[in-house]
Amino acid sequence: MTNISRLSRPAIADIIPYEPGKPISEVQREYGLTDVIKLASNENPLGPSPKAIEAVREALMDTNRYPDGGCYYLKQKLSERLDVKPSQLVIGNGSAEICELITEAFIGEGDEAIIGRQAFFKYRVAVQIMNGVIAWADMPDFTHNADEMLSKITAGTKLLFVANPNNPTGTLMNREQVTYLMDRLPERVIAVFDEAYYDYRNLDNFPDTMSYLRDGRNIIILRTFSKSYGLAGLRIGYAITTEEIARALNCVREAFNVSSIAQIAAAAALDDDEYLREGIRLNGEGKRFYYDELKRIGLEYIPTEANFVLIKVPLPGREMFGELLKKGVVIRPVDGYGLPNHIRVSIGLPNENRRFIDAIGELLREKS
Ligand SMILES: Cc1ncc(COP(=O)(O)O)c(C=O)c1O
Repeated sequence: MTNISRLSRPAIADIIPYEPGKPISEVQREYGLTDVIKLASNENPLGPSPKAIEAVREALMDTNRYPDGGCYYLKQKLSERLDVKPSQLVIGNGSAEICELITEAFIGEGDEAIIGRQAFFKYRVAVQIMNGVIAWADMPDFTHNADEMLSKITAGTKLLFVANPNNPTGTLMNREQVTYLMDRLPERVIAVFDEAYYDYRNLDNFPDTMSYLRDGRNIIILRTFSKSYGLAGLRIGYAITTEEIARALNCVREAFNVSSIAQIAAAAALDDDEYLREGIRLNGEGKRFYYDELKRIGLEYIPTEANFVLIKVPLPGREMFGELLKKGVVIRPVDGYGLPNHIRVSIGLPNENRRFIDAIGELLREKS
């Protein structure tokens, strides 16, 4: 029999496949439960935007056709809203796909990318796939730190990734820190700011990354329809960047990478202001509920700028994850990020948040 590990590229050997959040149906099957809630993947608990559902229903009849590979209509809409040219936009099969387009376009063997130690996992994998070298930057207080990142710059640095806010920590590199970073970052380095949770932002301190684009800097801003727009299952996100960088990303992009249904749903969701507002309101309310209740049961948490909370737990996070699964509550262990004593929980609907708090409170009592 052929030894596949001998055939596969050496870069693949070091990659640890991503552990996705367990789907509800799997937990139900495995544990014989009927009532399971999923607070593991930072999805929008409201369900998809009603406007998106309506648009998709109509569009289903055309799915015998290939999608528009150029995403013309969606790009028009986004370009008006963002005040950029359509040629500055790249649409991806989720923003996660765009991370791979970025490394495919810019990372050759030995090229370096600066990544925070507890930054979103996707950047690491995307660089590893291309035989790139990761320059890990420490994240004091769980936050991307400009000096730590700048200290990693060498002649071989091509990319710098900032998840803002970061998953799984929920922390933000604020406007002042981003200014400090961008003032010192060599122009030749491409800065990637992943703003997947942009709509949940606090207006007082969120960096204006678009201003660097207007200044002609090498910058890629990533946004997604998976979170505030509730379309995670359709896989659609986008990059806002310079025309030159967009051209490079399009060279490595599969021609029909975004389905017609995803394009249509995203364009319709953009018009659903009421849905967006309600999701943001609900998130703020859920966040305050978690903070109050976590304080009450004596658990430390990292204040979040997104739709999930990182919580310090007295037992190994993976054990907590297993025990909570048995109670029908799916959360996320984060030991893969070097955080064995934390768990990450998404902010859900009020009854889901209550259920999580009750389950973790009960579990702590059982284990004490
Ligand atoms: C920081 C960050 N970036 C990107 C993504 C992936 O988003 P998408 O669904 O658009 O691929 C996530 C998803 O959890 C995320 O947390």
